[in-house]
Amino acid sequence: MSGLRDIAPLLDAYLSYFESQRTPFTIPGHKQKAARLDSGLGALVDGDTPLYGGLDEIKLTNQTLKKAEHLAADFWGADYARFSTGGSTHANQAIVLALGSPGDKVAVARTAHRSILSALVLAGLEPVWMSPEIDVATGVPTGIAISEITRALKENPIAVLLTEPGYLGTISDLPALIAASHAQSVPVIIDAAWGGHFGFHPDLPHHVLQLGADALITSVHKALPGYSASALLLAQGKYLDLDRIEQSFETTHTTSPAGAPLASIDAVRALLQVQGRELSAELLRNVAQFKATVQSEFEMPIFLYAQDFPEGRFDPAKIVLRVQQLGASGVEIERELQSAGIRVEMADRDTIVFLATLVDTPDDFRALSDALIPILKERQGPRRESATALSWSVIPERGISMRDAYFAKTEMVAADTAAGRISADLIAPYPPGVAVVAPGEILTAQILNGLKSSKDAGVRIAYATDPTLTSYRVVR
Ligand SMILES: Cc1ncc(COP(=O)(O)O)c(C=O)c1O
Repeated sequence: MSGLRDIAPLLDAYLSYFESQRTPFTIPGHKQKAARLDSGLGALVDGDTPLYGGLDEIKLTNQTLKKAEHLAADFWGADYARFSTGGSTHANQAIVLALGSPGDKVAVARTAHRSILSALVLAGLEPVWMSPEIDVATGVPTGIAISEITRALKENPIAVLLTEPGYLGTISDLPALIAASHAQSVPVIIDAAWGGHFGFHPDLPHHVLQLGADALITSVHKALPGYSASALLLAQGKYLDLDRIEQSFETTHTTSPAGAPLASIDAVRALLQVQGRELSAELLRNVAQFKATVQSEFEMPIFLYAQDFPEGRFDPAKIVLRVQQLGASGVEIERELQSAGIRVEMADRDTIVFLATLVDTPDDFRALSDALIPILKERQGPRRESATALSWSVIPERGISMRDAYFAKTEMVAADTAAGRISADLIAPYPPGVAVVAPGEILTAQILNGLKSSKDAGVRIAYATDPTLTSYRVVR
C-alpha cells in the first residue's frame, strides 16, 4: 500500500495502470509482457509505462502531469514547474535556450556542470566566467564572491547562471548575489542539481527560490530518492519568460517520456510534503553520528563541517572526507572500499565524497564506518597540504567562441606540442565534471601539466577525445 498515492496524482496513475485490465495496441512495444520472450528483458521493461497512454490518456485528457507539476510549483513556491526525464542536463539546456539570442552574454560560474556549457553552445550564448573563491584552510571552493559577480554584471549579461551547492557542499552568499543581479533586473538561474533536499528543515540550507532566485533546477535522483535521470525545473515569471521556457522545454524533451521517472518526482514531492522535516532530521542525525564515529579515531579534522564555513553556506548532509589530512590517497581508499562492496560518489587523491540521502539507515552508516576506519588507519601517513584541485584553480583564456570551436575543423596533436593551441574538447576531471578547459579556450602549460598529474593520481579525465592524454583535439 502506498501512503502517498492519494496526494500524488502521477504516482496514483502509475499504480492504477498496473492494477487495470489492459490489452494495449500502442507503444511501448514491450506491452509489459516481454517476459514472455525472455525473463531478463521482462525484468527490465515490464514495469515501464509511458506518460502518453500510461499515466494519462494519449491525448492527456486527464491533465495528470499538469496537476502534479502544479502541486510541485506550490510546494516549492514557484510560478512554474516542469518534470523532466532527461536529468538536470535537459532542464539546464531547456532554460538556457529560453534566455536570449545568439551572441548575448551570460555570467556563468566556472563551477558549472558540462550540461550548462553544452547549453551555451546550443543557444549561442557567450559566457562571462566567474571563478569561485577558495577557502585557504581547506582548499575548497566556497562560491562566487560579490566582487566577482559585480565585475561580470558590468559586462551586461542577460542572466546569471550559478551552480549551488557546489560539488563539495559549499554555497555562495546567495542573497547578496541575487540582490546584485536583481538590482540590474538580471535573472538568476541556479543549477541546484545536488540541493534537492534543501528548504524543508531549519538545519538545512534554504532552497534557492526561498532566497529569491528566479529558477531552480535539481536532479530528483541525486540528493532525493527519485528515479534515475528524473529532474525538476522550477521558475518565477518576474524576470523570466515562462512561455519561452515552456517552448524550449518541449523542444528539447523526448516526446515519449517514461512514466516511472515522472511519477517518482511526484511521489518524492509528496514524501517531502508529508515527512520532509522528520526524514531530514533523521538524515542529519545519522550523518553527524557517522562523522563523529569516524572522527573520534583521528586527531586532526578529517571531514568538512558546517562550522568551517559562514552560517548557511555548507550542506550539513554532505559527507566530504579530506583524506589529504591523513596523508592517504582517496583513489586507493575508494578501491579498497569497492572491494568491500561500498561505492563512493567521488574520489580523487585528496577527497572522497559519500552521498547520503533520506533512504540511508543507521545500519548503512555503521557498515560504512566499520569498513572505512580500518582502511584509513592502515593507510594513514604524514599529512599533505591541501592541493587546490585543478578544476577550481584554472583561469580560462579565451581563444575563440565556444560555439565556433564546437563546429570548427579540428585535428589531433601530440601532448608535448599542444600548449598554446585552442582546445576543441571540453575536458573535465570526473567527478566533479567541472571543465578545466572548454571548447575555444587555450591549452596552457598549467592545464596540460595539471591534467597529466590528475590522471597520474588516478582521476578519470572525462570527455577528452584521447582520454590517455597523449594527444589533444585542437582547432585546426
Ligand atoms: C551541478 C550539476 N548539474 C547538472 C548535472 C547533470 O545532472 P543529471 O545527471 O541529472 O543530468 C550534474 C551531474 O552530476 C551536476 O553535478
